[in-house]
Amino acid sequence: MTTATKEAKTYHSKIDLSDDLRKKVVAKLQITLAATADLTSMAKQAHWNVKGSRFYQLHILFDETYNEINEYIDMVAERITALSGYAHGTVRMSAKASPLPEYPDNITCGEKHLEALIERYAIYAKHVREHIDAMTNLGDAGTADMYTEISRAVDKRLWFLEAHLEG
Ligand SMILES: [Fe+2]
Repeated sequence: MTTATKEAKTYHSKIDLSDDLRKKVVAKLQITLAATADLTSMAKQAHWNVKGSRFYQLHILFDETYNEINEYIDMVAERITALSGYAHGTVRMSAKASPLPEYPDNITCGEKHLEALIERYAIYAKHVREHIDAMTNLGDAGTADMYTEISRAVDKRLWFLEAHLEG
């Protein structure tokens, strides 16, 4: 688990964003790509392993959660390549760079899976929100807008997950 920002590699491009700016943005996006891929695999982990009286409802909820976050892997990776960066998106690359804590490997009960996902979604939601301002301050409105879109969906998903723990 690391949040260290490494120097990003970028290719030549005629895009009207400086090489220096693109390197900074791509380095941040690499961490987001890793976190997004990591979170995606956690939603599937919950989908497969949940048991108990609410099994079917949560099994479906976690798959819906997976499908939603999975879309953002491609969006983030292709923002990296659109900025002429190189996307590091394999499972092993993601595991090395993700800032999220490992998902527990011994839980089955629905509440435990909800709690585990909520904890990780909250960290991810904070990471994404912080990058809206960071990208705006760097001068990349396009990437800031992408983070805003992800942030809105993640806030809503966090609400869905938390609502299942209420009452
Ligand atoms: Fe399935």
